Amino acid sequence: MKQLSILALLLLANSAFANPFPTGNAKEGEALFNKYNCNSCHAAMLGGDGNAMFTRANRKVSTPAQLVSQITQCSGNVGAKLSAQEEQHLAAYLNKHYKLK
Ligand code: HEC
Repeated sequence: MKQLSILALLLLANSAFANPFPTGNAKEGEALFNKYNCNSCHAAMLGGDGNAMFTRANRKVSTPAQLVSQITQCSGNVGAKLSAQEEQHLAAYLNKHYKLK
């Protein structure tokens, strides 16, 4: 029993460690995403569901660094000057789709 709880703790610690955006808050990210209407272009491009941009078969982002860099690029599209912290929030939110480690 004791060994089991140690194992559970180790697993927990490990999954926390695997989060590539530990300082990002997904809820804050969602609020920013809506505030800047981030899916406006994505929805227009893909016809309907803008979130399909993040799950399409030939999506561009495949690492945490690429995700942040794409967020920086796209925030230029909306004329937003995001802080590094805000980028982490957005990345944490978008990682619900990407599931990057
Ligand atoms: C002016 C239009 C426009 C707006 C507004 C916009 N984007 Fe994008 N976004 C694009 C385009 C175009 C692409 C696809 C680039 C490609 O496929 O080469 C893209 C792709 C992306 C991707 C990468 C998708 C992939 O292939 O993995 C992410 C992440 C992203 N946008 C995040 C955001 C965020 C966050 C915002 C809001 C701050 C935002 N975008 C606002 C045009 C826009």
